[in-house]
Amino acid sequence: MSTEQRSHVVAIDQGTTSTRAMVFDRSGRVVAVDQQEHRQILPRAGWVEHDPMEIWQNTRAVVGGALGKANLNATHVAAVGITNQRETTVVWDKATGEPVHNAIVWQDTRTQSICDELARDGGIERFKDITGLPLATYFAGPKARWILDHVDGARDRAESGELLVGTIDTWLLWNLTGGSTDGGVHVTDVTNASRTLLMDLRTLAWDESVAAEIGIPLAMLPEIRTSSEVYGTCKPGILIDVPVAGILGDQQAATFGQACLDVGTAKNTYGTGNFMLLNTGEEIVASKNGLLTTVCYQLGDAKPVYALEGSIAVTGSLVQWLRDNLGIIKDAKEVEQLAATVDDNGGAYFVPAFSGLFAPHWRPDARGALVGLTRFVNRGHIARAALEATAFQTREVLEAMNADSGVPLTELKVDGGMVVNETLMQFQADLLGVDVVRPVVAETTALGAAYAAGLAVGYWQSTDEIRDNWGEDRRWSPQLEQGERERLFRQWKKAVERTLDWVD
Ligand code: G3P
Repeated sequence: MSTEQRSHVVAIDQGTTSTRAMVFDRSGRVVAVDQQEHRQILPRAGWVEHDPMEIWQNTRAVVGGALGKANLNATHVAAVGITNQRETTVVWDKATGEPVHNAIVWQDTRTQSICDELARDGGIERFKDITGLPLATYFAGPKARWILDHVDGARDRAESGELLVGTIDTWLLWNLTGGSTDGGVHVTDVTNASRTLLMDLRTLAWDESVAAEIGIPLAMLPEIRTSSEVYGTCKPGILIDVPVAGILGDQQAATFGQACLDVGTAKNTYGTGNFMLLNTGEEIVASKNGLLTTVCYQLGDAKPVYALEGSIAVTGSLVQWLRDNLGIIKDAKEVEQLAATVDDNGGAYFVPAFSGLFAPHWRPDARGALVGLTRFVNRGHIARAALEATAFQTREVLEAMNADSGVPLTELKVDGGMVVNETLMQFQADLLGVDVVRPVVAETTALGAAYAAGLAVGYWQSTDEIRDNWGEDRRWSPQLEQGERERLFRQWKKAVERTLDWVD
């Protein structure tokens, strides 16, 4: 069938809280969406797991759901792209397709002792020059090591090639392309590989000595490929014979979907956490200010494009915490209303260091704190402080970005679930002192994966179409007076100090 008949591209967006499938047309518009949440398994404080089988079943269900809503079938689909929560790690049996343990999620801090032990010889930056990353519980390599250390017989089986490891992109690709029964393809892309602590940023290959130090047998690792090429085709099922042709970690996908294709362009995604990425082009920029160096994307034979990233572990998930753990709102959307019942934060600052603090601090010993309390503070102030926490953490990351790049950002492109929150977006612009800009298609993550897949099969011809399809929806300009902006930020920094050195 010609690409004319294959009129659409499907993106699978497997996120931390839910899985979505989206159908896009040639103009980059969303034609249909289907979505399912999966369980957050919290066996003990600091541990977060997902059931890989549930994720795979949800993936099939939402792809079928989205195609059904669009009144399309596999023969109309030119390609499928995968984008995913990054770092979350699955180890499974190659012969049966059964995971040997639940997936260990990026937010999970159980690998702290593994990271501490590795850092004893050379500190937390010992692999940074090679991998771009500090030693932290966030990344996939130590998570895989934990599974091998704790599941009976797993290490021997991994060494003999019986077990496979992958981030969620790899798990889904392997299953889509046939799994254990029909020759599933065991591949990851450069962006996901750059989040493992195992890949050399320069060669884009696994670093054998780092893998040996962390304790990961090379036999279980997927092959690293580019972000835009045909990896394989889907086997019997909803997408039969459709090529899987794009893979990008979700934050890199959002950067691509936001058309941040030029050096110096950046986006900030407001999801479970916040992730700001700055395109640094072909240059690998080593951060001096607590940012990560990561692969932004690589399109087929072209050279890789790199990025600096500021990762914040808890932003949107703090709103969920207000709902699920405190019960002060019933629905995440209510937070804006509740915050609007007060004029300001009433002096309260909420530092959500639930997984320690990520960028720019990298302090695993931090724990959350709500400070500045007086009898005056009510639910509204707490809701407001929770929203403001997102904006304050973003300012910390933006300052680090400006310091590393030497060229201050003049505006910030935003996307993700929280950008519908007008109060937050205005406060963000106020606190940064630059314009905050939301695109027409806010689903930039799925769109980025669709573009990567569509470009690989010729559905789209060049990245110029990405630039042309990008359009501005709304812009917030700073309104707060400079002195007040700085006063608020000083208070925030004092609050952050209170969270450090908490864990013995
Ligand atoms: O690095 C973690 C990130 O990829 C998670 O993104 O959107 O699933 O919270 P999200």
